[in-house]
Order: sequence, then C-alpha cells, then structure tokens
Amino acid sequence: MCTVWKRTLCYSVSMELLPCFLLLLIGATALAYGEPAYPGYGAEPTCGVKEESAMPAPERREEFDGGRILDISHYYREDMPAFESAEGTPGFLRLARSMRNGSDIANFSELRLTAHSGTHVDAPGHVFEHYYDAGFDVDTLDLAVLNGPAMLVDVPRDSNITADVLESLHIPKGVRRVLFRTLNTDRKLMWKKEFDSSYVGFMEDGAQWLIDNTDIRLVGIDYLSVGAYEECIPAHLVFLGKREVIIVEALNLEHVAAGVYTLHCLPLRLRGAEGSPARCILIK
Ligand SMILES: *[C@@H]1O[C@H](CO)[C@@H](O)[C@H](O)[C@H]1NC(C)=O
Ligand SMILES: *[C@@H]1O[C@H](CO)[C@@H](O)[C@H](O)[C@H]1NC(C)=O
Ligand SMILES: *[C@@H]1O[C@H](CO)[C@@H](O)[C@H](O)[C@H]1NC(C)=O
Repeated sequence: MCTVWKRTLCYSVSMELLPCFLLLLIGATALAYGEPAYPGYGAEPTCGVKEESAMPAPERREEFDGGRILDISHYYREDMPAFESAEGTPGFLRLARSMRNGSDIANFSELRLTAHSGTHVDAPGHVFEHYYDAGFDVDTLDLAVLNGPAMLVDVPRDSNITADVLESLHIPKGVRRVLFRTLNTDRKLMWKKEFDSSYVGFMEDGAQWLIDNTDIRLVGIDYLSVGAYEECIPAHLVFLGKREVIIVEALNLEHVAAGVYTLHCLPLRLRGAEGSPARCILIK
C-alpha cells in the first residue's frame, strides 16, 4: 500500500478530515498541489498506488500570494465547536459513494451540517418568524455589503461588547463593515470542541448603540454567536430587526493584524436557509 512517506501524506490528509480524493472532485487540485493545475485524474491516484511519483504534499495555507490574501474562515473539522453542543461537528463529511465499493466511477462525499456551522452568516429569518416566512434567507443577503472595505478592530479584553465599549473604539463614521476581535481569539475558543458559553459577544445595548450611532452594515465576530450568551437573542433581534446588518460569525482572526482591508464573504445560495457557511477572506 502506501510507502512510508505516502502513509504520512494520507494520514495527514485524513486528519484534516478532507480526504485527498475529494480534492479531485471539488476542483481544488490546483490550490492543493500547485502547478500543474490538474494532475492525472484517475491515472495517478492521490494516495498509495503509484510508486515513488513526485506527488507533493498538499499545502495548507492561511495566506496566499505572499500574504496579500488572508483566509479568515475556519476549516471544517470534526472537533469544530457547535452552538450549545459538547460534541463538535461529528460526521460532517461522509464518503457516500466510492470506487472502493466497486460500482462507482468516482467518489462522492456528502455533507451533514447545520446552516450555522463554522464560519457562517445569519439571515433575518434566523430570529424572526415573519422574515423566515417571507423568505428573507441567505440568498437575499446583499453581496455589496458582504464585499468591500472592512475594518478589523480589537475589543478591550475585559468586557463584553457594550455601548460603552463600542463608544470607546471610536470607529469612524462611514465605516460599513467591522470585524470585532475579542478575548475569544486569545482563548482559542473556536479550537475547543466543547461549546463555551462564557464567550464574548454583543450585549443588547452594544448592538443598539451600533445601529443608532454608526454606519456599520456588516458585523463580524470570532465565535459562534454575535450576541453574548446571556443576551444572545436580544442582540440578534437588534441587528436583524430592520434587516440592517449582516452578521458573520466564527471568523478566524488570530493571524491578522488590526487595520483596514477589503473583505470578501461569500455564503452559499441556500434558498430557504436562515444561515449559511461562508468563505471569508481579507485582501490587503
Ligand atoms: C460502501 O457502500 C456501503 C453500502 O452502500 C455504504 O454504506 C458505505 O458508506 C460505502 N463506503 C464507501 C467508502 O463508499
Ligand atoms: C475513491 O476512494 C477510494 C477510497 O475509498 C480510493 O481508493 C479511490 O482511488 C478513489 N477513487 C477516485 C476516483 O478518486
Ligand atoms: C461575557 O458574557 C458572558 C455571559 O454571556 C460571561 O460569561 C463572560 O464572562 C463575559 N466576558 C467578559 C470578558 O466580561
């Protein structure tokens, strides 16, 4: 089967829970292997068969193009925390059909996730029945809000995000997108499988202050909910009540300096869904 170094490759790939064979299907081959873009589909199985070919190890990156593009999404993994759960995200990816079973010509994996798994956006239907019924789903979110100049700010680490805290940040008028980095990042909460309700988020008065005193239309945060646990729903109600704000949650902000960037955040077009995983990146 695998030579020693190839075993290492297969092992590290499976540890990432993104089977190497899936890469062939989702077109990420160029990303994972560099040039050439599409190495011998089928003819050169990714793991274990071909002897001593120069198969490079898949590259895992948080930055691209020499640091110009910064990935601020969390990669999906089984021990990624989920709201109010101790279980993480088990079994989110399953190889449903495989050549190993004999009958199929390719591998097909299945996803099983909540719409609020990992880095994701909330649509107004998340907390409002009337918006849910009226169809204010993630497919209705404005791409002009989800993409554009954004400011990454550090929140004082000794408090949840209250009106006073927001006022102290002096975010200039005209800023439309802000990513709030908090104690959650220092505590590496997104790297702990068990949900931790002591995370930092907006208090209701903080959310209201933001609506009343700023031009912010996109709020990003570094754990699973934009609202602090004890005021989770009230904070969401304020942000989504008039459909004024797009909420982006569970961003990975640990390797990025505070400052101004161009944000690109692209949720899936899940019509009917009140949330969606999103790929979010910053461009310098
Ligand atoms: C093989 O087929 C069985 C029965 O259809 C299925 O349950 C299993 O998940 C398949 N395994 C793989 C790796 O495709
Ligand atoms: C599909 O996955 C199996 C492992 O179950 C692997 O042996 C096989 O080479 C894969 N087939 C393709 C076409 O990638
Ligand atoms: C933020 O609020 C949560 C409860 O929602 C609390 O457990 C936590 O200690 C607070 N964090 C800070 C830094 O005050």
